[in-house]
Amino acid sequence: MSDSDLAKFNAAQAALAYIKDGMVVGLGTGSTSAHFVRLLGDKVRQGLRVKGVPTSEATRNLAEQVGVPLLEISQVTSIDVDVDGADEIDPQFRLVKGGGGALLREKIVAAASKRVVVIADASKWVETLGAFPLPVEVTRFGFALTAQRIKEALQATGCEGVEVALRVSGKANEPVITDGGNYIIDAHAKRIPDANVLAAALQQIAGVVEHGIFIGLAHVVILGKAKGAEVKEL
Ligand code: A5P
Repeated sequence: MSDSDLAKFNAAQAALAYIKDGMVVGLGTGSTSAHFVRLLGDKVRQGLRVKGVPTSEATRNLAEQVGVPLLEISQVTSIDVDVDGADEIDPQFRLVKGGGGALLREKIVAAASKRVVVIADASKWVETLGAFPLPVEVTRFGFALTAQRIKEALQATGCEGVEVALRVSGKANEPVITDGGNYIIDAHAKRIPDANVLAAALQQIAGVVEHGIFIGLAHVVILGKAKGAEVKEL
């Protein structure tokens, strides 16, 4: 395992301390969350009784492979604890998420959770959000117009050097389609001077399904290192 992967693993392992028998657990998306899902699968094999609510089809597939019993989101009214990764975390525990394209389901699951534990390697901790391109999930219909409105919102809230791009993948540069059937616009800016104001502005744009700024959702941040992990609680 590389040092970075080891750091992610250590963060995931430390998150197990927040899981108790009988809990309903939100299962995040991304490489750090994948470590957590595998570790949770180990615990289930050892007798832990939990039910998982996956935040993506990728996580659903992994959880099924490693034997974590699952619930559909429609079967739960609340989730005990959600364990998920992040692309950036600031000192107010505001997050940028969606690098893996699962931000919509991730936000719905986080918002339904009594406690949200963010697991990440320590490089994700930043003073100011924004170096990581901000993912915004948009409807396919009118996406270019929506992208323009997103760019204007970033500029109007003080971001500089803003560029927006439709997320594509593969040799043919096909647009990435989310689990919800939408596109993702990645909004590049060096820094987001006021994440709260930008989040509110993005919510006003027709065609924006959800954006990757998570405010007031995270309770615990676990920063993994090559040796051990640092736990921060708000
Ligand atoms: C998925 O949509 C994202 O929000 C992930 O949580 C994020 O990209 C973190 O991924 P890694 O754990 O792979 O860094």
